[in-house]
Amino acid sequence: MSVYVSSTTAPVNIATLKYWGKRDANLNLPTNSSISVTLAQDDLRTLTSAATSQSFEKDTLWLNGNEESLSNKRTQDCLQDLRNLRHQLESQDDSLPKMSQWKLHIVSENNFPTAAGLASSAAGFAALVVAIAKLYKLPQDMSELSRIARKGSGSACRSLFGGFVAWEMGESKDGSDSMAVQVLPLDQWSQMKAAILVVSDLKKDTPSTQGMQLTVATSDLFQERINNVVPKRFVEMKEAIVKRDFTKFAELTMKDSNSFHATCLDSYPPIFYINDTSKKIIRLVHSINAFFNETIVAYTFDAGPNAVLYYLEENEDKLFAFLYKLLNQVEGWEPKYNKKQLDGFKSIFENEYKERIEFFMDHELYLSITRIILTRAGPGPQDSKECLIDEKTGLPK
Ligand code: PMV
Repeated sequence: MSVYVSSTTAPVNIATLKYWGKRDANLNLPTNSSISVTLAQDDLRTLTSAATSQSFEKDTLWLNGNEESLSNKRTQDCLQDLRNLRHQLESQDDSLPKMSQWKLHIVSENNFPTAAGLASSAAGFAALVVAIAKLYKLPQDMSELSRIARKGSGSACRSLFGGFVAWEMGESKDGSDSMAVQVLPLDQWSQMKAAILVVSDLKKDTPSTQGMQLTVATSDLFQERINNVVPKRFVEMKEAIVKRDFTKFAELTMKDSNSFHATCLDSYPPIFYINDTSKKIIRLVHSINAFFNETIVAYTFDAGPNAVLYYLEENEDKLFAFLYKLLNQVEGWEPKYNKKQLDGFKSIFENEYKERIEFFMDHELYLSITRIILTRAGPGPQDSKECLIDEKTGLPK
């Protein structure tokens, strides 16, 4: 019996206007709209192959080499929606194989170690939905598919596009208008780069769903955030992106990260995602911007202590003069940058900036940072020639 396969990659995205709060936890409907930048897949991506055949006995998922349960409700909801869409096609065209009734084998791999400390659920659910949509030859566009990925993990809906992406919260109860749309394609602002500082942390963070529920239920500040702060910021940030106004984009990004973490602190009992190292990074970014008398870099933090720094390519030397000075012992500079380039960052610092620095530089910062991931804005899901499933057996290669 034939085995049908398809493969895709999907990117990670990091929000610059945060999604925090569900108005419907079942459908993953948010209490506010959000905006993100999609990151390049050379550095961070999920590759997923999906296969189906009349001969398969049960839905099975292999994630990074291990068989994992597919029984969780969120994944089941995604699979059901995709099967329903496939069923519509089959009922219109009798010649189509009845894939909607067959079981699925899904094999998925991240190109970054789990130890990198980055949540991979957004890329994972985006890849799952796109791989199966391709397998089923669904005619739906990325925004329509994003509604399905959203049910897997809210932020996953934004990984269906490259560049700059908005998730419009929508109004309807069934979630039909809560989906991702493109704000600006990658090629319109491809100079956007990102440096991720992976911060050491021993404690396990409060899972995002649990954290959101607590904030929605207990924080007074949260009401101000969703009713007044975010709606205005959503419009302003989209405008800053379309105009490629980095100064404005950076200011809104930093303020929104701070606002989100303030509602976490305002939850009861409070939730702490950022730690002392994160706070040192926040101070460092403000000091660097003040030093240049210009906003060249922005920070943002998700539900954990890792910092994502956004900056434009044209300012990389200025930023890296500082970052390399402080973090040269941290893993991740090579092989992205060769020795000559790294020496260049060093000499800019030593020869041009050192004498003029008036702020405190913590030369022990590197001790609490495990790795730096140097990447940039990137495209949406891509077709992949690499396939993780053996087309004869339908099993992982
Ligand atoms: O999609 P989730 O449930 O992993 O939640 C993501 C929440 C944040 O990363 C903190 C913000 C965001 O918009 O991505």
